[in-house]
Amino acid sequence: MSHPALRVAGLAHRYGTTTVLRDVSFEVDPGEVVAVIGPSGAGKTTMFRCVTGLVAPERGRALVAGNDLSALRGGELARARRQVGLIFQQYNLVRRLSALDNVVLGRLVHLPWWRALLRLPPTEVRDLAGACLQRVGMAAHAGARADTLSGGQQQRVAIARVLAQRSSLLLADEPVASLDPRSSASVLATLRAVASEEGIAVVCSLHQVDLVAGFADRVIGLRDGALVLDVPVADLTDDHRADVYGVDLEASPSEP
Ligand SMILES: Nc1ncnc2c1ncn2[C@@H]1O[C@H](COP(=O)(O)OP(=O)(O)OP(=O)(O)O)[C@@H](O)[C@H]1O
Ligand SMILES: [Mg+2]
Repeated sequence: MSHPALRVAGLAHRYGTTTVLRDVSFEVDPGEVVAVIGPSGAGKTTMFRCVTGLVAPERGRALVAGNDLSALRGGELARARRQVGLIFQQYNLVRRLSALDNVVLGRLVHLPWWRALLRLPPTEVRDLAGACLQRVGMAAHAGARADTLSGGQQQRVAIARVLAQRSSLLLADEPVASLDPRSSASVLATLRAVASEEGIAVVCSLHQVDLVAGFADRVIGLRDGALVLDVPVADLTDDHRADVYGVDLEASPSEP
């Protein structure tokens, strides 16, 4: 039986008395790119944490290729976690390692622990890491220390690492929030390409709604923990945006 890459079903969560997620349900297919929009505090990061099993939801489930990570332990959990690649706003790379070694780290999750410890990956692992860097247009920077790369370049190396990890699902929590417009466009184009070409499902939260068009297939909106929008990107209107952000955009043209 085939599963969606991600199935979020009736997810609900509270921190203390604060309700953060309210009955959130949606599915993402392999190769599909879903943008998640919503105001600060809407629950986007919490939703990602529920998917990776870092937060056990109060109700509902998040299934990655049919696996509920919050219900797994030990080796099963480790195997299921490899299915999920993570990219955040920043600090995705080990600063002192080269771009290539950072990508190799993604591959090491598949090696026996003793070989990872030796930190001498076999040639084929380095070749694979190099090919992944090539896929994101970073082959020329393979030997550069991660902390000498621009923010956009670092994010593309992080995407290469997810490729090396052979994840089926990539969760990106505001991956372009600290980048300039040109770098943002290049990182999102890279995410789009790995989804289309490798069949990886991408779920990506963004604060810049303008970037959604041309990047995502679908856009979902969270407001105060509830899923208030789930439409193909082509159908996204200003009314939808106003609804998600809870403001009348026309009435406040000076607001960002
Ligand atoms: N560990 C925590 N303990 C208590 N409350 C938390 C915790 N993490 C998040 N919250 C609260 O949960 C709500 C949702 O937070 P979350 O980080 O998921 O929102 P977000 O949509 O990712 O916001 P942003 O766009 O600012 O990143 C907020 O009210 C936040 O203060
Ligand atoms: Mg967040």
